Amino acid sequence: MASIDLDSPTVAPGGGPAQTKQRIPGEVAGLRSYGLLYGSSPVMLELYEQIERVAATDATALIIGESGTGKELVARTIHDQSARRDAPFIAVNCGAIPDELIEAELFGHEKGSFTGAVQGRIGYFEHANGGTLFLDEITEMAPVRQVKLLRALETGTFFRVGGSELIRADVRVIAATNRDPVVAMKENGLREDLMYRLAVFPLRAPPLRERENDRELLAHYFLASMNQQEGTGKTFSKRAIETLRTWSWPGNVRELKNAVYRAFILAEKTVELPHPHLASRVRKPVTQGDAMSVWIGTPLADAQKQIILGTLKYCGGDKRRAAKALGVSLKTLYNRLGTYGSENGVEEENE
Ligand SMILES: Nc1ncnc2c1ncn2[C@@H]1O[C@H](COP(=O)(O)OP(=O)(O)O)[C@@H](O)[C@H]1O
Ligand SMILES: [Mg+2]
Repeated sequence: MASIDLDSPTVAPGGGPAQTKQRIPGEVAGLRSYGLLYGSSPVMLELYEQIERVAATDATALIIGESGTGKELVARTIHDQSARRDAPFIAVNCGAIPDELIEAELFGHEKGSFTGAVQGRIGYFEHANGGTLFLDEITEMAPVRQVKLLRALETGTFFRVGGSELIRADVRVIAATNRDPVVAMKENGLREDLMYRLAVFPLRAPPLRERENDRELLAHYFLASMNQQEGTGKTFSKRAIETLRTWSWPGNVRELKNAVYRAFILAEKTVELPHPHLASRVRKPVTQGDAMSVWIGTPLADAQKQIILGTLKYCGGDKRRAAKALGVSLKTLYNRLGTYGSENGVEEENE
């Protein structure tokens, strides 16, 4: 049976190249991969080895790593490399399910077991029978629910909510967290017994800043995938490569992939990758005499601000003249300048 995504929030939008298992042989020199994961840095090669080892067992695994480091891909790769590969892989984001519903979601419920339970339903554990259950953001689960999860992990059995029949499911659990589990145990109510049960095999998904050359390799890989999908031959500019090297990518592979995707869409032939630090600020317009060029893609509100401030400057700060030139009332101009002033934390700049 193919993988089932019951939990879209943990799955990247659009089903990227890695999820479709697309291979681009020979396209990116030096790029290595394992399962769904790409990357050639020593920390990644180490991770591939660990995945290989854990995939050969049925042990519970805990994946620790910042957001966007590929924790879900690690879990899927373990599943795909394991003897369970033909059974379902089910991803559940524990942080996205209201606490009072999580037990029923995991273990199912009987008809009439709570208000609104008009029909009985099986839970993720039963859906994942024979396969793998991926529990993302495990530290978000309330301690009382953790006890039930622990019991299910230890005995392989559980009750549906409102049920009296002991259900058995053969499920391998892989959990993930973007927090330090030791801190989560102290501060966020992650139970120690559950933590040790989950972390039989701890795996660390390294952040991109620890993966020097991978930034460039991955960016080329994502670009090659998009080129292949669209039948194009777009390439990175020199400055884009520089951005790849100098930006620290705090949002990790997710941020990198989205940045490349966005830049790819905007590009005609050469893909520019604006430095995220600079891109977050609006690019300044170019003024020449009584003409002003506003950059393509400037948000409308910013374009308006640039035109107003540019005109005021051209009018030597004479608000009455500027308002006339802009075709607005003096009051409107004052209002606008007032909002720009408070945005910038100063009163009426450009005066
Ligand atoms: N090593 C990798 N190789 C290829 N794609 C990756 C890699 N790591 C992450 N991604 C991509 O980055 C995005 C975020 O990955 P995900 O597994 O959801 O991260 P996390 O669960 O750690 O937040 C996804 O689109 C995924 O396909
Ligand atoms: Mg995730």
